[in-house]
Amino acid sequence: MRLDYTSDLWWKNAVIYCLDVETYADSDGDGVGDFRGLIDRVDHLADLGVTCLWLMPFYPSPNRDDGYDISDFYGVDPRLGTLGDVVEFLRTAGDRGIRVIVDLVVNHTSDEHPWFTESRSSRDAARRDWYVWRPEPSDHPAGLAFPDRETSNWQRDRRTGEYYLHRFYRFQPDLNIANPAVRDEICKIAAFWLALGVSGFRMDAVPFLLEVDGIPEHVDGDPKRWLRRLRAFVGRRNGEAMLLGEVNTAMKDLSSYFGDADGDALHMEFAFLLNQSLWLSLARGAAEPLEQIIGALPVVPHDNAWATFLRNHDELTLDQLTVSQRDEVFAAFGPKPGMQLYGHGLRRRVATMLGGDGPRLRMAWSLMFSLPGTPVVFMGDEIGMGEQLRIPDRYAVRVPMQWSRGRNGGFSTAAARDLVRPLAGGAFGPAEVNVADQRRDPGSLLRFFRHLTRVRRETPELGWGSSTLIETADPALFAHRVEWEGSAVVAIHNLADRPATADLDLGPSAAGVHDLLADAEEPARRGRLSVSLEAYGGRWLRVRRR
Ligand code: NOJ
Repeated sequence: MRLDYTSDLWWKNAVIYCLDVETYADSDGDGVGDFRGLIDRVDHLADLGVTCLWLMPFYPSPNRDDGYDISDFYGVDPRLGTLGDVVEFLRTAGDRGIRVIVDLVVNHTSDEHPWFTESRSSRDAARRDWYVWRPEPSDHPAGLAFPDRETSNWQRDRRTGEYYLHRFYRFQPDLNIANPAVRDEICKIAAFWLALGVSGFRMDAVPFLLEVDGIPEHVDGDPKRWLRRLRAFVGRRNGEAMLLGEVNTAMKDLSSYFGDADGDALHMEFAFLLNQSLWLSLARGAAEPLEQIIGALPVVPHDNAWATFLRNHDELTLDQLTVSQRDEVFAAFGPKPGMQLYGHGLRRRVATMLGGDGPRLRMAWSLMFSLPGTPVVFMGDEIGMGEQLRIPDRYAVRVPMQWSRGRNGGFSTAAARDLVRPLAGGAFGPAEVNVADQRRDPGSLLRFFRHLTRVRRETPELGWGSSTLIETADPALFAHRVEWEGSAVVAIHNLADRPATADLDLGPSAAGVHDLLADAEEPARRGRLSVSLEAYGGRWLRVRRR
């Protein structure tokens, strides 16, 4: 193995952790998390073994979409701190060996952004064409991001009587990236945060950013050429900068966002299709949906990677499954209407869906960490936090972090009514699920996670190698073999609530395996190994050759 490669294309062997500063740790008792609070928790993250943090938006914002409606791309929401605090945080994280990427949300702005205020002021305003205006509404682009709240992607503005494009809520007008001045500004925004020390960006809503359908003012030619230019630009400003794109789109389009075989557009894409099939496999207790999707996904170019995940901060979208497949997942993991959203998503967290800490939850994490790509974990999943369904919409899963069983789960000393968001309750509230208790408990989920993260980092084959499916006789078993630089790892997981066995052919030169999670050796017999798995068991096996 060439471990030196893993520090160069660092994102291919990273463990990424997504957090929202606003709900992580409150240092000044005002009920809102802040950068000073986050700095005090950096050692929790270092201890967990994550190598990269993805910060959700922390910029000035009217906060009508939890900060994804930005009113100043160059600042910090004053509730969360100052630019100085950001720099101190970046330095502290860097000191612990942790890189930081930040959300780059440039498909749209808030309608309170001064650019939009100016743009909407008159038809011949200087910044009129920083946004997309037309005299009449249209059915294109097709599809609505939030069908419960919006009926069109075009909104009439009474000042000029024209309609502006908004792919998300009406208070999030889309920027016009056909305008070279807007494209220059996007580069400047990226350059600003890179200069402060971030290592790249999670790019919001990339397909919408590049969309041409029904948008008269689209980037001429192939919009992905512009994406390539943006990538080249960020690389010039910081050689290690990485772009991780939110690309939930059809299979046939995925490879073009990587830059096809050249891999010179997005370094990483979230593996939404893989995620949806994974949940179908979990619901069925059967490997087949996962096997099918892994067989169908495009080959990832050498320098690029999938970002794998179980849950993120939005709804668990199942929009690419068939209606009956979606119903299976709903029935298994979110049968009540209040748990569902938009007819295609679930607003629950991993731990509640999988029945709390136990073999099934741990198997799901072990399985996800072993899939081809780089794992991304959402804050609080390392201790098995649950959602708060009293919170409306997608925000039900974005509850404050639970540090202890103390006041407000150790998140804040404010009065409960002043918290930025209510805490999770019941069996998943801070009295039952918190960092402090789990740090002390050798059998806790937190300790399991720490171990999983360390072993994942020590197993770069999983992020770098090419993966081949292994057929087993038992439909509940998902097994694949990953080869990299002369080393092979076999990962096998049992999706069913009963024991299962598999007879693995490791190849004629195999002397045995090193069970990576259990740290144990096992000999093979004539290149074969019989593997027994408990209900929801899982193993990662590095093949030892003669
Ligand atoms: C995707 C983000 O993940 C989501 O939370 C947000 O509402 C939309 N993009 C709009 O920015």
